[in-house]
Amino acid sequence: MEETQLVTAKDLDSCFDLCVLGLGYIGLPTAVVFAQSGLRVLGVDINADRVRDIGQGTLRIDEPGLKEALDSAMKQGCLRTSTDVQPARHFLIAVPTPLKDDKTADVSNIWAAAEAIAPVLSRGDLVILESTSPPGTTKALRDYLADLRKDLNFDSGKEECVSIAYCPERVMPGRILNEFATNSRVVGGIDTEATERAAHLYSLATKSEVLKTDAPTAEMVKLAENAYRDVNIAFANELSMLAAEHDVDAWELVQLANNHPRVNILNPGPGVGGHCIAVDPWFLASTSDNAPLIETARGVNNGKTRWVVEEISCEIVNGAWEEIVFYGVTYKADVDDLRESPALAVVDKCLQRFPDKRFFVVDPMVKREAHEVSAIRNAELVTAFEAGGAGVLHVLLVAHSAFETMEVFADSTAKVLDFVGLRSSRRFKLLGSGELGKVH
Ligand SMILES: NC(=O)c1ccc[n+]([C@@H]2O[C@H](COP(=O)([O-])OP(=O)(O)OC[C@H]3O[C@@H](n4cnc5c(N)ncnc54)[C@H](O)[C@@H]3O)[C@@H](O)[C@H]2O)c1
Repeated sequence: MEETQLVTAKDLDSCFDLCVLGLGYIGLPTAVVFAQSGLRVLGVDINADRVRDIGQGTLRIDEPGLKEALDSAMKQGCLRTSTDVQPARHFLIAVPTPLKDDKTADVSNIWAAAEAIAPVLSRGDLVILESTSPPGTTKALRDYLADLRKDLNFDSGKEECVSIAYCPERVMPGRILNEFATNSRVVGGIDTEATERAAHLYSLATKSEVLKTDAPTAEMVKLAENAYRDVNIAFANELSMLAAEHDVDAWELVQLANNHPRVNILNPGPGVGGHCIAVDPWFLASTSDNAPLIETARGVNNGKTRWVVEEISCEIVNGAWEEIVFYGVTYKADVDDLRESPALAVVDKCLQRFPDKRFFVVDPMVKREAHEVSAIRNAELVTAFEAGGAGVLHVLLVAHSAFETMEVFADSTAKVLDFVGLRSSRRFKLLGSGELGKVH
């Protein structure tokens, strides 16, 4: 690693208050929220098309309120976008940290972001890492930057040192702006000074509690939360497969068991998807021999997706169905996010297995054309499907709210494979036994 040359002298009057690197699901709303709180924010992304689109107010993500907030921040001149990092008092890194083939975290985007920041870094700056990262990454980021900028001081207590902190993002797609304002934040610095400075920055943009800790704890909090969800969903998914063996309705089982005051089983589904829960547990499990439960939960949840494919395949073969309609392909209900979606994986597998059958997909959240989603390019993406046709198998994979009132699911003559419990939920409502919770 070569030491970086300082290319920009920082002019305090002209530099930004905050520079956010990575304008995706997390970075863009974060930049917008900080801009709304009065900071002068620069949003940076290496994807020039994305920067151009955002600059023109065009969003690729469907996030309630984001377009309006972005337009307003741009109009007020509080937010600018660029492909180039520029001097700022604070830097916030929200770049992707995907899984490598060996299930360890690929943190190369973080080092690339550090290399972009290093030339413009000045005395007294604060760098916050928000990307989900294995424990120890924030410390490694500090060492990386310190190597690139040997002229700067990274030790707390020394005059105008550069501070480094970690703050995990725990918002949920579809509710990002709302949760940014209401979720508590956990911030952990490399040292106390960094923690205090990061906590102060977040307190400018959120009214909710800012909880202070150290960097490795903050890093691990995010991973623990998602591993907790994954393990609990795995229990529900395992139960659902056992229930099927005994011809028991898994959702009725969960509903009744949850009547116990100390039991709270989640609802089963076709597997676990999304950018976090299906990925982050590996950041803990892949580098340790002490995580058999977390690793097993990943296996159970992936196994549930394979089980669903087998159930559908058996039904297609035994029932000689010619037309199969899948309801939902996103990774969970009421979002447009297809990343790591188990429903999409199920559809993809069935299409490969039965090339002679006719497949339809109904998903009101997916705005794209089917051929743009490679896994379902050989299916027809339709807005609705007339129920009741003979020879049609209906497969419910995602519990979108829009499906709750669809006639086909109330039609007792329609053949429906329900992997999210919508029909059970209806039955409970009809029986007046209360509403089943939504699938995770
Ligand atoms: N999406 C979520 O729901 C969620 C929730 C919590 C945490 N996270 C974490 O937040 C991080 C970002 O996730 P995301 O969903 O926003 O990803 P994303 O893929 O939506 O967006 C990331 C953006 O970063 C850009 N980028 C990549 N390298 C860059 C670099 N060196 N400099 C500037 N831009 C760069 C990409 O072009 C992309 O636009 C990840 O670590 C993720 O695990 C995501």
